[in-house]
Amino acid sequence: PETGCLSIIVLGASGDLAKKKTFPALFNLYRQGFLHSNEVHIFGYARTKISDDELRNRIRGYLINKDATSEHSEEVSKFLQLIKYVSGSYDAEDGFRLLDKEIAEHEFSKNSQEGSSRRLFYLALPPSVYPSVCRMIKLCCMNKSNLGGWTRIVVEKPFGKDLDSAEQLSAQIGELFDEPQIYRIDHYLGKELVQNLLVLRFANRMFLPLWNRDNIDNVQIVFREDFGTEGRGGYFDEYGIIRDIIQNHLLQVLCLVAMEKPVSLKPEHIRDEKVKVLQSVLPITDDEVVLGQYEGYTDDPTVPDLSNTPTFASMILRIHNERWEGVPFILKAGKALNSRKAEIRIQFKDVPGDIYRCQRQGRNEFVIRLQPLEAIYMKLTVKQPGLEMSTVQSELDLSYGQRYQGFTIPEAYERLILDTIRGDQQHFVRRDELKAAWEIFTPLLHRIDNGEMKPIPYKPGSRGPSEADELLSKSGYVQTHGYIWIPPTL
Ligand code: BG6
Repeated sequence: PETGCLSIIVLGASGDLAKKKTFPALFNLYRQGFLHSNEVHIFGYARTKISDDELRNRIRGYLINKDATSEHSEEVSKFLQLIKYVSGSYDAEDGFRLLDKEIAEHEFSKNSQEGSSRRLFYLALPPSVYPSVCRMIKLCCMNKSNLGGWTRIVVEKPFGKDLDSAEQLSAQIGELFDEPQIYRIDHYLGKELVQNLLVLRFANRMFLPLWNRDNIDNVQIVFREDFGTEGRGGYFDEYGIIRDIIQNHLLQVLCLVAMEKPVSLKPEHIRDEKVKVLQSVLPITDDEVVLGQYEGYTDDPTVPDLSNTPTFASMILRIHNERWEGVPFILKAGKALNSRKAEIRIQFKDVPGDIYRCQRQGRNEFVIRLQPLEAIYMKLTVKQPGLEMSTVQSELDLSYGQRYQGFTIPEAYERLILDTIRGDQQHFVRRDELKAAWEIFTPLLHRIDNGEMKPIPYKPGSRGPSEADELLSKSGYVQTHGYIWIPPTL
């Protein structure tokens, strides 16, 4: 492992993302011993003029809850001492020169023996300032080459609004940094069960022969939230559910479900296969899309009264290749629905020549519940226990809460930040992957932006527009009535 000074610079340090996700993830890494206090220094950078302690106090509330033990509070205090704050603008040199000076001072004291200068810039900022911030970093804050080490930047979605704007952003950043220095975060790739997908698929003999159009009837990748845009209406209205969830999070999951076996586990081999899947997706047709907007969405003062932005979308993606021809991949995401969950549901075809068909058995399904209550379960038909010979739906259930008791599943951001420090890009989106993802959705997004497609109103707290359920059954999905998976209780 590398040694020497590691500086983590959180730009946009007083913003929501930094407080809710970035700093808590850094704290968890610190707590677990991944950030050694004799090597690491954390810098917050933002425009607001506040002191180190003011920033620390703002963060503290996100690291401690009212039941925290004194031991935990002490750890939080020690962690906060690693953080320094520098204020400056995002497009002028002074602030970044000052930042560089602070980082260098720290590097100098730490490197008096030997080691390298590692600088990780986390842009917890709106993408509109990415180009100027990247220019400033390049100009003023690169790692000191005489010490060795690296400079990396971490960026968050939205990476553009459509193909052209995304390509423009990629080109601007690409002029300043090489691809191995750029980490495009899609936090779904850091989720435990998303990380399990390739293992499940390629380390189990059982699945290999089944995972194709001969056996699988349809695949659903679903994201539901039981709250609306709450306080983020302004941001959300500009993007909508397709850009916020489907084009990135759900599409990344689709890649891992559908891709061919990579040559090896090397990050580039994996990303090569993901790009191929994306390039095989056919254009989305209007009759395979249902859009919705929950009633009351436009009551938010930051949302225009006549907004055409979908808060719900369900659509069918078709992959034109040997494995998947004819298998619909249904991607569905919605806000203000009746429940909160994310899952992948793979439904198998009917049993040919089924001698039990008169007993109305359901289809086999393989479900990967990403959240909450992480689980992997397989829906099967079994004999109803007892003297009668009748069948019933049941499941083989690997519920994490039960199987891995006492184990805390790491937060997506924690794991991904650790990867950026270790230099592993496997779970980050490559430039060509991003381009292919935008190519799929841009024509549809433009039709929505131009008002050519309109969302159907739905009641908050409902399942979304009923047209989405019709689309689902049209796609071939068969719901098993009277069966519901109940997560085991401990
Ligand atoms: C973010 C979206 O990327 O993901 C939010 O911008 C959404 O709108 C969030 O709420 C969901 O993430 P998670 O990890 O809670 O499923």
